[in-house]
Amino acid sequence: MYNEEAYDKFLKLKEKEDFYILALESSCDETSASVTLGRKILSCSIASQIDIHKRFGGVVPEIASRNHTLAVGTVVKEALDKANVTLKDISAVAVTEGAGLLGALLVTVSYAKALAFALDIPIIGVNHIAGHIAANYIDSDIKPPFVCLIASGGHSAVAIAKGYNELEILGESVDDAAGEAFDKVARVLGLGYPGGPLIEKLAEQGSPVIDFPKAFKNKPQLNFSYSGLKTAVINYIRNRESKGETVNKADIAASFQKTALEMLIDNCIKAAAEKGFKQICIAGGVGANSVLRKGVEKKASELDINVHYPKNLYCTDNAAMIGVQAYYMIKEGLGYRKTDFDCRPFLKINEK
Ligand code: KG4
Ligand code: ZN
Repeated sequence: MYNEEAYDKFLKLKEKEDFYILALESSCDETSASVTLGRKILSCSIASQIDIHKRFGGVVPEIASRNHTLAVGTVVKEALDKANVTLKDISAVAVTEGAGLLGALLVTVSYAKALAFALDIPIIGVNHIAGHIAANYIDSDIKPPFVCLIASGGHSAVAIAKGYNELEILGESVDDAAGEAFDKVARVLGLGYPGGPLIEKLAEQGSPVIDFPKAFKNKPQLNFSYSGLKTAVINYIRNRESKGETVNKADIAASFQKTALEMLIDNCIKAAAEKGFKQICIAGGVGANSVLRKGVEKKASELDINVHYPKNLYCTDNAAMIGVQAYYMIKEGLGYRKTDFDCRPFLKINEK
């Protein structure tokens, strides 16, 4: 059953611009809350758990959930204070419903349900990847349609954002995601977590002299594969070490990064060229990589294609992107959730 009153309020928001959304995100290891006025970000508070998970070399799901529970109240208060509003001003609560770690998602989904119940306002359930794409709308006038390169810890894909709520996938990873490969290779190199920024930094001191294999090379398709590349890096290190040789970690980082990023660069350029798009947007944590950005920009400029990416803060997980996407869902009457809705850990990139 719908809560009829909350649903009526949801439908009325379609006609308005001056309403506040409180957005929440806790799909992995960042607890975040944001207040938006319409599609404008007023605040974004993020509590990162990187220091907690670093010692384990990756995110430990149960520890993540516990720390979301500890942090959620504080980030919500910070976001409200910074936006200079109180809970009474909020017209809708938006929350990441998937994909992500089940126990981690449950924290803000449950928090959102309690808030919606107490304030008698609607809940909007947001797809995390739709949020990453919407990060491009923050501080910019970018509008769909465009080709979108999605590269996060859980997903790699190239897609067409046909509208704010419509995504056509052209290619996806058949195994690991790009960010996952960065994290795994960083772990093998003993660099720590999260791997992406650490590999990018180390790669600056090395040269891409090692020829790691690139999946689907010269094949006319737009899928990605990272598990072979990851295994090639592990084998390279083991082979050298078993012979008593020392390995040059900076060269490995530079070589891995080059191959990993080339796949992303090639596929989004190929997609834009084939489908005739003049705009590419980058979404997800790997989008913070400056070599990726420059690589896409260089090839795109040769074809007269514009490239856009969010600023670093909005590339990795944050609630502001969830608030912006919720705004565009409200405008199309999408995402209203009944208070007994469940979170969706395996939600697909283009699922509503
Ligand atoms: O989008 P995100 O914050 O979370 C997910 O939705 O998964 O992405 C996190 C991923 C991690 O795998 C992290 O290593 C990667 O993004 N990442 C990077 C960089 N910064 C973060 N990868 C490459 N270069 C970076 N500078
Ligand atoms: Zn993410």
